[in-house]
Amino acid sequence: MKIAGIVGSLNSHSISRKVLMESKKYFSEDVELSEIEYSDLPLFNVDKEFPRPKSIERIMSEINASDGIVIVMPEYNLSMPGVLKNLLDWVSRPTVQGAPKPILDKPILVITTSAGVSGGMVPQEQIRSVLNYLGAHVLSQPRISFANIYNKLDGNGNLAFDETSATFYDATVKAFEVFVERFHK
Ligand SMILES: Cc1cc2nc3c(=O)[nH]c(=O)nc-3n(C[C@H](O)[C@H](O)[C@H](O)COP(=O)(O)O)c2cc1C
Repeated sequence: MKIAGIVGSLNSHSISRKVLMESKKYFSEDVELSEIEYSDLPLFNVDKEFPRPKSIERIMSEINASDGIVIVMPEYNLSMPGVLKNLLDWVSRPTVQGAPKPILDKPILVITTSAGVSGGMVPQEQIRSVLNYLGAHVLSQPRISFANIYNKLDGNGNLAFDETSATFYDATVKAFEVFVERFHK
């Protein structure tokens, strides 16, 4: 099974990326998780939409090759990060002018992180709404978020989940794997 990871932060030390990579501990051994890099994606502009930038062609082929997608994103001002919305706006557009809009026909797990106590559940609802609009199949339950994310790092800046967080993350990833398998039957 191929899982594509998307991190809603361009920070090279992104803690959301650490959360994404932590999921490898919980997926089955035959699951291949690889992150889709999109820092080279330009700001969406209909004036510059066609011919499509090479970056969106590459990103779409990585999305299409995946069986499912895990999105881990930070909360920005009680909202989803602009870079991620920009990516989704590109993903929503046809490959050639005048062609029908593509359907993002993929099972998706959404995970949010926040520095504060909110856990990013408001932006999580926002991105769920956008993803549903694009035709994606977002895992409804369990819903997972990590509040006070900086308290979950050890002295070396590595993630060090307590047992409650680790157990819930494990259960969520396993539920998602079953969801992806069911989707492909
Ligand atoms: C522009 C910006 C806005 C933010 N807004 C919030 C916020 O509304 N609530 C909150 O708890 N944390 C907020 N934060 C903190 C981020 O959620 C936190 O740093 C994030 O989880 C780190 O993710 P990253 O390392 O993957 O970028 C904000 C951070 C930035 C840079």
